[in-house]
Amino acid sequence: MMEYKCLTKQQFYFKQYAIVPIRMEDRFSIMQWRNEQMYHLRQNRILTPEDQDQYFKTVVAKLFDLDKPGQILFSYLDGDTCIGYGGLVHIDWTNRNAEISFIMDTTLEKEFFEFHWSTYLSLIERVAFEELDLHKIFTYAFNLRPHLYPVLEKSGFYREATLKEHAFFDERFISVVIHAKVHCYLRPALLTDAATTFRWATNPKVREFALNQSEIQWLDHKMWFANKLKSNHCFYYLLMQGDEPIGSIRFDIDTNEAMISYLLDPKYHGMGFGRILLKKGIEQFKQEAGHQITRITGWVINENLPSVKVFENLGFEKSQDDGTKSNYYLSII
Ligand SMILES: CC(C)(COP(=O)(O)OP(=O)(O)OC[C@H]1O[C@@H](n2cnc3c(N)ncnc32)[C@H](O)[C@@H]1OP(=O)(O)O)[C@@H](O)C(=O)NCCC(=O)NCCS
Repeated sequence: MMEYKCLTKQQFYFKQYAIVPIRMEDRFSIMQWRNEQMYHLRQNRILTPEDQDQYFKTVVAKLFDLDKPGQILFSYLDGDTCIGYGGLVHIDWTNRNAEISFIMDTTLEKEFFEFHWSTYLSLIERVAFEELDLHKIFTYAFNLRPHLYPVLEKSGFYREATLKEHAFFDERFISVVIHAKVHCYLRPALLTDAATTFRWATNPKVREFALNQSEIQWLDHKMWFANKLKSNHCFYYLLMQGDEPIGSIRFDIDTNEAMISYLLDPKYHGMGFGRILLKKGIEQFKQEAGHQITRITGWVINENLPSVKVFENLGFEKSQDDGTKSNYYLSII
């Protein structure tokens, strides 16, 4: 398999699905799908096998050795079978943004359109944000497949712009819709976050799985929050998407162990941000306090399946289970 010089990790997995550097052997399937789906692509004639060979030889083959290629293409696999392809294109290394491209095997579109788009987006985001440290990724779609938009929005993309009558297509001008997502990052919690964190903590969707079910009062929260920020035993961060806070993670230290509490604004549940929040939180915490900590733990209500999954996916192991809640831990030395 070819490797991209600009990536340290080459293959990205979700269950049996993966994206890997585009494979020569997949070029004719890709050609076929492109020809079948020409109506939504920037392609104005049927590709022949010769065109495709030429494209792979003169364009694709040259991408692998570049420090800053203009595009990075992947085969999208189910097991070892290519069922789609896509990548980051028009990569702007100065402004750290790129457009996302993706098409799947045409026969999968009817039944599995949402599933494969969401899976692919979660994989390509890891390339964009974790590997290449891009700031923003976006889709540029002719306004011909409105069923794509809710899929993008469920994956945390927001509709950024409609470029009206922007493309000449089928003898008429059609609009182009741009959806975008900016990189999430953590920043330390500030006193001015008291109201936001109160709103989150008192939301029924967050309360549902809280270990302590007693009602939270604003003045108590304000005082509790200020004390947490003052404490040397607490590391508290907010997850930001651009300038919007979307979740929080806290590490409370007890001797050489740190206990995690984390949550997302309910608006952002179900989009995969939980994993990002926990992963980034642990990285940041290890950098700032890791030297004194040997173990990170978290209590999870057993019915809180998204949280159980997030912990398990990041390598946490279960140490205790009292039938209602379980303790998960990660050794960090
Ligand atoms: C816990 C929390 C941070 C999870 O974040 P999230 O980004 O919304 O989680 P997701 O919906 O993306 O789900 C995470 C994983 O659980 C899986 N999942 C979600 N619901 C599931 C269900 N009902 N059954 C099985 N798996 C489920 C998802 O498929 C995903 O798995 P994957 O990463 O392998 O794809 C968020 O739900 C939250 O803030 N909850 C309220 C506060 C809270 O419970 N905090 C944790 C206390 S320990």
